[in-house]
Amino acid sequence: MAIRDIVTDENEILRKISKPVEVFDDKLAVLLDDMKDTLKKANGAGLAAVQVGILKRVFVVSADNNYYEIVNPEIVEESGVQIDDEACLSVKNFSCKVARPKKVKIKGFDRFGKPVEYTVTDFTARAFCHEYDHLNGIIFYDREEK
Ligand code: NI
Repeated sequence: MAIRDIVTDENEILRKISKPVEVFDDKLAVLLDDMKDTLKKANGAGLAAVQVGILKRVFVVSADNNYYEIVNPEIVEESGVQIDDEACLSVKNFSCKVARPKKVKIKGFDRFGKPVEYTVTDFTARAFCHEYDHLNGIIFYDREEK
């Protein structure tokens, strides 16, 4: 377990598309453990692998007293709208309003390659959507509500 450096939005890697995980090995487990430690130390709600410089479709979220780690996530359903302030560990001193679904259903895999499915709402849904965007090179302020 280790704390990894979080890249900032000056780094172009945040604009790249992350690649699906194909092998569920010890390296993936170490990455997920490190992401958990890094997220906790930064006191954040979510972290995508690209934010520690790894272009893999992996994110972790800590929200509403639950902790999630999702590999190869797909948002399969979304409903409703919520607009609220959002920020990012990779973006210093900036937050803005972003519209997100009120509820999302997400499918993916755990660190062992077992399928997982979560239906989440409100803040957790916002965090899932924010992290999912990172896997596609999107930063929250791209979606700023003006
Ligand atoms: Ni972020």
